[in-house]
Amino acid sequence: MAKHIAAIDQGTTSTRCMIFDHGGNVIASDQREHGQIFPQSGWVEHDPLEIWQRAQSVVVAALEKAQLNRTDLAAVGITNQRETAVVWDRKTGEPVYNAIVWQDTRTDQLIRRLARDGGQDRFRAKVGLPLATYFSGPKIRWILDNVAGARERAEAGDLLFGNIDTWLIWNLTGGVDGGVHVTDISNASRTMLMNLETLDWDAEIMEVMGVPRAMLPEIRSSSEVYGECRGALQGVPLAGDLGDQQAATVGQTCFEVGESKNTYGTGNFMLINTGEKLVHSKSGLLTTPAYKFGDNPTVWALEGSIAVTGSLVQWLRDNLNLISSAPEVEDLARKVDDNGGMFIVPAFSGLFAPYWRSDARGVMVGLTRYINKNHIARAALEATAYQTREVLDAMQQDSGVELKELKVDGGMVYNDLLMQFQADILGVPVVRPKVAETTALGAAYAAGLATGYWKNTDDMRANWAMDKRWEPRMSEDQREALYAGWKKAVTRTFDWLE
Ligand code: G3P
Repeated sequence: MAKHIAAIDQGTTSTRCMIFDHGGNVIASDQREHGQIFPQSGWVEHDPLEIWQRAQSVVVAALEKAQLNRTDLAAVGITNQRETAVVWDRKTGEPVYNAIVWQDTRTDQLIRRLARDGGQDRFRAKVGLPLATYFSGPKIRWILDNVAGARERAEAGDLLFGNIDTWLIWNLTGGVDGGVHVTDISNASRTMLMNLETLDWDAEIMEVMGVPRAMLPEIRSSSEVYGECRGALQGVPLAGDLGDQQAATVGQTCFEVGESKNTYGTGNFMLINTGEKLVHSKSGLLTTPAYKFGDNPTVWALEGSIAVTGSLVQWLRDNLNLISSAPEVEDLARKVDDNGGMFIVPAFSGLFAPYWRSDARGVMVGLTRYINKNHIARAALEATAYQTREVLDAMQQDSGVELKELKVDGGMVYNDLLMQFQADILGVPVVRPKVAETTALGAAYAAGLATGYWKNTDDMRANWAMDKRWEPRMSEDQREALYAGWKKAVTRTFDWLE
């Protein structure tokens, strides 16, 4: 029987396993949520052992649904929520603390202290990132400073660090019994500790950040055989590793300079391929590796990261009980013609691109007695579209490339109202591919490329097909009036901490 490729996509709210055929079609998939732990305002944690459990369960269930067994798999690839930090004991496999999630803002004071010497862009030339709570390096420091004995154990080489990719790869390849401790450049770059020129850990930043090298994984390419799996995937080569947004870039086959994608998940992340050229942003974007396939040169990207989009809809569901399921937000929003003059700026984790303000907190503005829950639903969806416009403007400024259309993927792209409004507020058509599960597909592509299942990027490009396209319909005047309202609302989020 023809072989297949499996991808494990470990996201912020759930873990899934998808099995693909050579045409890039989904044969089967299984998905399970894990707990969100909020110990205090601004803190977000996950239980790494629960995540590992979920990863094992979804693999078994997906194989069952596909009526395949592990010998039918040519390879498995990993993709993951980036910047979420796990520190564990190499001898027992026990995490020393919960995973600190990318959305967590507890390192705010540390970030400010570091910025006193050299400003927020102190390390930007080396790592492509501003100082921000988002990245995992400061989170490692927090764990070493706050868990009794952790620093000594880390210095003695007893503790290991990983973003979630590294944690899963180590466990999948045997854990305490010889698990490999590796990451790929796309994940390593999100720690603030990887030097973009050398693609290696940067000694000066490790020193300043207080992170011992002994705990850091080996940095590898995004597509190569890292090791063989044990357990349910016994013997299957683990051959792809990409941060989820970089994986979606590969899944959308954005292999040419100027090609870009926007993924609508808990947050939104837009990446534009800048080719073999490392471009430094002047407009608040991140410089990040898009992928490196084996020995081929690194392909770079500019990224616009937005912390809260889909998670605002979850917040309406879980914290306000405004809706009982996420898709209901569209039903409510359709009951009104517009936002009634209100805006929601969901700065729950501060504001990411293009502002990088950890002192920002969310606001609802423009409220009157006229506003009802339908307007709130609509304003929540609009917030996703306005934030995307801000990132797109920054991208056009930095790259000088005018975007002809925006390729989209992720859960929210089935929300028709949002996608139409997105096209309207950008003034650019929005295009959804047939396989919108591009994150998992990208990880599968990386694993399949390393093992010869797919020959080259043309092979993957041939699999891409359009499903739906939205053309802008709004007048220029209306678009700019709404966007001006949004910009004003954003200014109301600043300076909430002090
Ligand atoms: O940088 C954070 C990102 O990787 C999280 O992605 O899909 O879990 O929202 P997602």
